[in-house]
Amino acid sequence: MLLSNMNREWWKEAVVYQIYPRSFQDSNGDGIGDLRGIINRLDYIESLGIDVVWLNPIYKSPNHDNGYDISDYRDIMSEFGDMADFDELLKGMHERGIKVVMDLVVNHCSSEHYWFQQAIQSRDNPYYDYFHWWPAENGTPPERWSFFAPDASAWRFNEATNSYYLHYFAVEQPDLNWENPKVRAEIYDMMHFWFKKGIDGFRMDVITFISKHDGYPVFEGVHGEAMIDVYAQGPRLHEYLHEMNREVLQHYDIMTVAEGPGTHINNIHDLVDETRQELNMNYHFEHVELGLNARKMVNSDHRDLVKYKKILCDWAVEFDHAGWGTTWHTNHDFPRQVSWFGDDSDEHREASSKLLSTMLLTMRGTPYYYMGDEIGMTNARFESIEDYNDLMTINWYKLTEQEGGDTQALLDSHKLSGRDNARTPIQWDSSTNAGFTQGKPWLKVTPNYPTINVANQENDPKSPLNYFRSLTALRKNHLSLIYGAFKVYLLEDPNIFSYTRTLDDETLLILLNYSSDNQTVCLDSELLSSDVKLNNYDDLVVASDHYQLKPWQAVIIKLA
Ligand code: GLC
Ligand code: CA
Repeated sequence: MLLSNMNREWWKEAVVYQIYPRSFQDSNGDGIGDLRGIINRLDYIESLGIDVVWLNPIYKSPNHDNGYDISDYRDIMSEFGDMADFDELLKGMHERGIKVVMDLVVNHCSSEHYWFQQAIQSRDNPYYDYFHWWPAENGTPPERWSFFAPDASAWRFNEATNSYYLHYFAVEQPDLNWENPKVRAEIYDMMHFWFKKGIDGFRMDVITFISKHDGYPVFEGVHGEAMIDVYAQGPRLHEYLHEMNREVLQHYDIMTVAEGPGTHINNIHDLVDETRQELNMNYHFEHVELGLNARKMVNSDHRDLVKYKKILCDWAVEFDHAGWGTTWHTNHDFPRQVSWFGDDSDEHREASSKLLSTMLLTMRGTPYYYMGDEIGMTNARFESIEDYNDLMTINWYKLTEQEGGDTQALLDSHKLSGRDNARTPIQWDSSTNAGFTQGKPWLKVTPNYPTINVANQENDPKSPLNYFRSLTALRKNHLSLIYGAFKVYLLEDPNIFSYTRTLDDETLLILLNYSSDNQTVCLDSELLSSDVKLNNYDDLVVASDHYQLKPWQAVIIKLA
């Protein structure tokens, strides 16, 4: 591939760093992370060499789903600060050359939002049509599965209107009716408000769900979580996104990324190809959902490297000619990368966490890197349901209990897969509560913080933290890692992930040993070189026809 043929964009070259504000840094001792806390850590954020910060929702919210239930889209959550703090934060980021992407949560709002409070009063209320309803005189509504409702039903009866409202997520998260042009106009107007403030983009929460099927038909033979794919096939999805692009997005130099449940290779181009004029990027869930059954019950597939590689490779080549992808392992909904895909034992934690970061920053697509992964934070592994805050785990626990199911098995699985694993406070140092708060943290700090923390790693040139900084710097200096053609080798090897990135006359080989054992990697002579650009060990054994890799060794090698 030639750079001169590439459609260069700043958001393709960026590394995005995700901040979950609630858990980043508390500044006033109430145990909840806040905007001032982020402001106080701006120099740290800059030191990582990242380009964009994505902030999880910071809008006014009663916090049933930690900010994903918004009661006022133009105001800041009181626990996080106020608009003056936000303006200062945005300015501080921009002064450091960092762009800011906000979460756009418009599939649903909070049940405390003024629109919903009005809507539930009567069918004649002008806001009734802002939501989706099933009139009770039509009988029982057709099955719709809810992610977070205690009874898993996405319909909830409202007495005053004698109708059921739709909520794909919690009861407190009623779905907005995009079919109503007034709703779309309100949303576009709100987006302009934030862009005029100077934000640099939106990560769009479950945006693939915004178009509902006319008349709420029965989805024959589709039950439970299988509905996710159907929800993402709403008939007017692309019409709405194209309209949003015309009305709002095209007027600014910004980036957009869809959170895309239900996106697959067979439908992704409609969403992200340039000619479609919808969104820039999407993140799919296929690799992170390997090994997850319903209710996030875990099976061994998440350790199946061949399946994982095939998914990632298919997505990497899919964007050879149009569209653009993303790479990610952890976010606020998925466990810590080192605990899920790596080996978080004392022996291999640092090496495996560096390896996983290497994959994310050298694979094709814009990396979305989750806070705390740069120091190799691990899963919290809560023992008891009392320790959980997340309504998803709590409601599924209750549901399992009601069904007389195995609650211990659910807890055991959620130690690995539960959302709270990645939501524990950032481990800044070895002082009380890991330096996150002077008060009582809203979610327990993971007990390994005296060992795994930022302060320890600052002073250690070989720490995961400093390795991550080297990676972001290397990526900036090698456009092959961004625009280069992708080619995989040894696809069927169950332990090794190896691929090249080639742009103009540069080829980099990335060798990753996803195992806790030594591995011999036999490759053709043109793939053997000792020009090492980055290595998570001190040395690399290159023989005449193979490389010898240590447990979780990751190397980036320039080929002659
Ligand atoms: C997305 C968010 C998740 C939230 C859900 C409902 O999946 O990432 O945290 O609970 O949408 O808004
Ligand atoms: Ca606080």
